[in-house]
Amino acid sequence: MARGFFFTFEGIDGSGKSTQLTRVADALRARGRKCLVTREPGGPAISEHIREILISPENSQMCNEAECLLYLAARAQHIRETIKPAIDRGEIVLCDRFEQATFAYQGGGRGLDIDFLRAVNNFATNGITPDITFIFDISVELSMERLGKIGKGKDRIESAGSKFFERVRSGYLKAASNNPEKIKLLDGSKEPDELTEIVLEMIEESF
Ligand code: TMP
Repeated sequence: MARGFFFTFEGIDGSGKSTQLTRVADALRARGRKCLVTREPGGPAISEHIREILISPENSQMCNEAECLLYLAARAQHIRETIKPAIDRGEIVLCDRFEQATFAYQGGGRGLDIDFLRAVNNFATNGITPDITFIFDISVELSMERLGKIGKGKDRIESAGSKFFERVRSGYLKAASNNPEKIKLLDGSKEPDELTEIVLEMIEESF
């Protein structure tokens, strides 16, 4: 059986990536493709438990090192229990965040060493990387505005402040400029319909 595909959706909080992922999955399914939709941190039960620890505002004492290892622990389980089996079954895996979030948030945002992050990430993923990563880029101002409009309580990471998100955004921009073949930078302030079309076209081209 032909191997499946793996696409990931990234961006700072409020970038619209999750909305786009849902729209793209609906469109692909309507075209008869089998899609598995999942997210990070999360996916299988063990990784969802780790997610609760990571985002809970109660855990404001968490050090950067523990945070980093928890994201990677969640990923290690996710890859082995969910993502790799689906790719092996020939499905299209669409994942809300993946390794670029670690490089942007833990590397750019928290200032952890990028080479170390790459090495541990490689251990967690067993070398499986997305076919294409889509980064929905928006300004930090727009991110704050959108999060304010959603009006839900901020999780532990969303409470970090605008300077932190500027560093995260720079991390994403750098990743895209270093690897434009695999990491596609999209203007997240564009109309949702237009963005969905762009992503679908890139996905179809990669088949
Ligand atoms: P979400 O809001 O997209 O569900 O993601 C939860 C938070 O986790 C978000 O603020 C980004 C953060 N995150 C990291 O810091 N590192 C990672 O590796 C991942 C996957 C997410």
